[in-house]
Amino acid sequence: MKKLYIETLGCQMNKSDSERIAGILSQYDYSETNNEKEADLLIINTCSIRQLSADKAYSQLGVWGKMKKTKPNIKIGICGCVAQQDKENIRKRAPYVDLIFGTHNIYELPELIAKLEKGEKICSITTKPVIKNQNDFKIIRKDSVNAWIPIIEGCNNFCTYCVVPFTRGRERSRNPQEIIMEAQNVINEGFKEITLLGQNVDSYGKDFNNPDITLANLLRALNKLEGEFRVRFVTSYPSDITDDLINAVDECEKVCKYFHIPMQSGNSRILKEMNRRYTKEQYYEIVNKIRQRFEGVTITSDFIAGFPSETEEEFQDTLNAIEELELDYSNTAAYSPREFTKAGKMTDKFIPENIKYERLERLNEKNKEACLKSNKKFVGKTLKVLVEGKTEKDGKIILNSRADNNKIVHFEADKYNIGDFIMVKITRAQTWCLYGEPVE
Ligand code: SAH
Ligand code: SF4
Ligand code: F3S
Repeated sequence: MKKLYIETLGCQMNKSDSERIAGILSQYDYSETNNEKEADLLIINTCSIRQLSADKAYSQLGVWGKMKKTKPNIKIGICGCVAQQDKENIRKRAPYVDLIFGTHNIYELPELIAKLEKGEKICSITTKPVIKNQNDFKIIRKDSVNAWIPIIEGCNNFCTYCVVPFTRGRERSRNPQEIIMEAQNVINEGFKEITLLGQNVDSYGKDFNNPDITLANLLRALNKLEGEFRVRFVTSYPSDITDDLINAVDECEKVCKYFHIPMQSGNSRILKEMNRRYTKEQYYEIVNKIRQRFEGVTITSDFIAGFPSETEEEFQDTLNAIEELELDYSNTAAYSPREFTKAGKMTDKFIPENIKYERLERLNEKNKEACLKSNKKFVGKTLKVLVEGKTEKDGKIILNSRADNNKIVHFEADKYNIGDFIMVKITRAQTWCLYGEPVE
């Protein structure tokens, strides 16, 4: 067998894609290795959400290009969002690349690999997906407790800063039966957590012309499957969260009471400039509605600092939102101009780098405070956790786990295993994690 090494950058969708790529290639005589030095085929699955992520892809190719000078038989591949965007142009910067394939071309890999074996140089990028029933292909999952299941790919929202609609195309929902079958398979295989993935999970089913196919009903169907497991879904678009979805989360005991709802900015003018379809007030309403409905629910968000034209006062609204809404955690980033996007062309309104990064620093400080405050709320409470890993420290076994509400919980115990669900009483809170002890 030949050896395959995949490096994965970017979001969970890329992680899931890499598991599928490794699975397909395993059916064509490639086994995965963690050691790039012994690989026959090296693939980088790339992200272009910010310039920094795209730069990482090219610097990795550079390293592999040098490797190829001493080992000319190795093959180098690139896929994911940078590949979809830069296409054949990748070879201008990295002429030694053998295989380029886009985000829509993963299921075409059997044909592409056959050509690669014949020594052909390949670039396969389409704007329409090569559709196949994904269940016909093997998946090699990286995690032993969590299984990623993509339910909708692409995005129709065209937020003015974002490259995703250009790299992932228009929204396409997977057939519900196909998703349920994949979920049943992972439960049978012993996975304890299913994370439903989509750039915009609330849009699930809209392209089917059948009002019964919704995320809410998908959750209800998954909840009926037998076995001990839990279900999460990411990412939600604020104004697309329906009452029916909230009801479904409430009804379904296997669905985690956790929402990831990126706000992006706490200021309504900036939200409008971003082409987000909600105001600050509407976002506050949805968060309050969810908080009132579920006790102990966690709500996480994403924010961008220094969007073109953002004033200091408008940035303050973002800091205030984190505090006022008591957001449990937020991903943060400084605005990065992207090719093809509307905001990327607003060059006269760009915020100077030093101001942007100074705002990002304050945003991170605020996020840290909010996380600690959120974690402290759970001290004294008992949470249901799923054990994800074990570490040994000073002769003691520490279990690393995650609560239903997505909080990381560490506790000492020697009788439990990875994949066990346990009730843990929280005794101590730090900024990024909780500590506790198991309750019988
Ligand atoms: N579909 C999700 C997010 C996908 S991208 C949503 O609608 O929220 C993940 C995050 O990257 C975004 O939430 C945003 O905060 C950030 N991001 C996207 N484009 C960016 C850019 N040009 N500069 C900085 N951050 C960006
Ligand atoms: Fe990007 Fe907006 Fe789509 Fe999210 S909803 S992927 S931020 S365009
Ligand atoms: Fe990055 Fe593409 Fe995901 S741009 S964030 S890998 S959809």
